[in-house]
Amino acid sequence: MPDPILSLLDVHAGYDGVPVVFGVSLEVMPGELVAVVGANGAGKSTTMRAIAGLNNPLQGTIRFEGRDISRLRAHQTLALGISYVPEGRRLFAKLSVEENLSLGAYTEKSAAEIKRRLDEMLELFPILRDRARQTAETLSGGEQQMLAIARGLMSRPKLLMLDEMSLGLMPTLVEKMMETIVAINRRGVTVLLVEQMVQEALEIAHRGYVLQTGRVVHTGSAQELLDSEEIRRAYMGM
Ligand SMILES: Nc1ncnc2c1ncn2[C@@H]1O[C@H](COP(=O)(O)OP(=O)(O)O)[C@@H](O)[C@H]1O
Ligand SMILES: [Mg+2]
Repeated sequence: MPDPILSLLDVHAGYDGVPVVFGVSLEVMPGELVAVVGANGAGKSTTMRAIAGLNNPLQGTIRFEGRDISRLRAHQTLALGISYVPEGRRLFAKLSVEENLSLGAYTEKSAAEIKRRLDEMLELFPILRDRARQTAETLSGGEQQMLAIARGLMSRPKLLMLDEMSLGLMPTLVEKMMETIVAINRRGVTVLLVEQMVQEALEIAHRGYVLQTGRVVHTGSAQELLDSEEIRRAYMGM
C-alpha cells in the first residue's frame, strides 16, 4: 500500500475556540476520488477549511505527503499543492474569465507557463473558451461553477478539494459537473469532494466518509455506502 497523500488524525476544528468538528480522522490515497458527504451543518466545510489552512485545527494532526501541515496558513498549503474551491464560487465578478483563471496561478511567475495552463483549461472546459473575454458575472450558475473549478486547477494542485460544486445547479448540470470531476481525477489529480448530494457524489467516488454533527459516522467504499440501507434511508430519501 502506498502512503496516503492526505491524512487527518483526530482533528477537532471550530470557530473562536468552540469546536464543531470533533475528532475527524480520514485518509486520501494518491489518485483517489474521495467524497465527504453529510447534511447541512455536519462540519464538512469546516474540515476542508482546516486542511486548507484557512481555519487551523484546535486539536489533532493533518498530514500532506507525510508532512505535518496542521499549523500552516492557506498560502502555504497552496504552495505545497492543495487547492481548495470553496462553497459559493468566490469569483471576481467584474473580471473576465481569462483574468479569473490567471489569478488562480498567481504563485506562478512565468507568463508563458500561465498561458499554457490557461489554454489547457479552455480545452478542458470548452464552455469557458467561448466566454473567455466575458466578465464572470455574465456567466450562468453552471458556467461560474466550472470557472471556479478551472481556477482551482490553475495552480496545478496535487490535491483538489471541491466544496458543494452541485449547489444550486439543475439536475442535468449536476450530472455534467460530476462527469467533469471524474475527468479531472482521471487526468491524475487527487480529488476530495464535499457534497450534500450524497448519492451523486458516491456514484463517482472511490470511497466515502459520512459526516454527522462533526463526526465520521460511516466510511467505506463508495459502493458499500451506496448499498447501505441505513445511509439510503438517511440521505437518499429511500
Ligand atoms: N464562520 C462560522 N462561525 C461560527 N460557526 C460557524 C461558522 N461557519 C460554520 N459554523 C457552524 O459550524 C457548523 C458546521 O458548519 P459547516 O462546516 O459549514 O457544515 P457543512 O459544510 O457540513 O454544511 C455549523 O453548526 C455551522 O453553523
Ligand atoms: Mg459546507
